Amino acid sequence: MTHAVIGYGRMAKALVPALQAAGEEVVIARRADGAAAVADAARSADWVWLTVPDDHIAATAAALPWRTGQLALHCSGATPLTALAPAPAAASFHPLKLLAGDADLAGVHVGIEADGVRRRELQALAERLGLIPLILPSPMGAQARAAYHAAANLAASGVLAVLAEASALWAAAGLAADDALPALLPLTRGALDTAALRGLAGAVSGPVARGDTRVLARHLEALASAGLDNDLLLALGRRQLALAEAAGRLGGPQVAALRALLAGPGTRLHRP
Ligand SMILES: NC(=O)c1ccc[n+]([C@@H]2O[C@H](COP(=O)([O-])OP(=O)(O)OC[C@H]3O[C@@H](n4cnc5c(N)ncnc54)[C@H](OP(=O)(O)O)[C@@H]3O)[C@@H](O)[C@H]2O)c1
Repeated sequence: MTHAVIGYGRMAKALVPALQAAGEEVVIARRADGAAAVADAARSADWVWLTVPDDHIAATAAALPWRTGQLALHCSGATPLTALAPAPAAASFHPLKLLAGDADLAGVHVGIEADGVRRRELQALAERLGLIPLILPSPMGAQARAAYHAAANLAASGVLAVLAEASALWAAAGLAADDALPALLPLTRGALDTAALRGLAGAVSGPVARGDTRVLARHLEALASAGLDNDLLLALGRRQLALAEAAGRLGGPQVAALRALLAGPGTRLHRP
């Protein structure tokens, strides 16, 4: 099996070493090589991976000289296979990992959208690369695809946004900004490790899960006096309340008091 990888960005820098380590023959083609060289690379391969930004997958596929027997692949969780329509066959292989450099894909789930024999081939490839295959519906409906991709984004970059908010509160406490991430990240890791063992409802802790309404009220006051938005704290508080209720940790009056405190869309301050 020979592979051409078109576009050498974050995904390709993780995928190419993984393919090579599994003994696959890989040629990389970059825009800087020129259109003819990219076309030659694509022509030479059995499988052609389009590891370009999502918005450019369709145009890149349309510009390549496809031949019978080739498979076009993209690694996007958000893009339908119709973007690869100019190719004789299409599939997607979407590693569920935030990649920001030379990342290792081992142990990561990979969403696979493919039919028949291609599905089995990709499943086998995933296993050889040390990934965990996750077979997606094929074709995947637009709404399901968007929900799947939103879930993945929330689980990765969404957590980063929560940590950015926590760091802003840390600074509002007058603590050194440089200490924020080193002090807060172990909390995040600990919560994730506990959730992996006990599930989300079994792991949730803090004032909402304990029913400490006065502590929560002071959190909200601290945000207000620091001039910070409270929309995220309120929204996440409501989700924590649902987890605590699912765990059976709170009595009716506690739930009612927390709901009242957490109600509403929150205050959104418009900062430049
Ligand atoms: N990064 C992640 O965390 C992650 C995770 C899962 C899935 N993905 C998916 O992987 C795919 C690639 O994402 P990425 O994060 O690797 O992106 P990226 O780091 O921005 O790299 C994309 C590469 O595509 C080429 N490229 C850039 N603009 C282009 C254009 N206008 N037309 C054609 N090619 C262009 C460039 O390579 P050359 O300069 O070499 O041509 C660039 O390095 C996307 O479908 C994305 O959804 C990414």
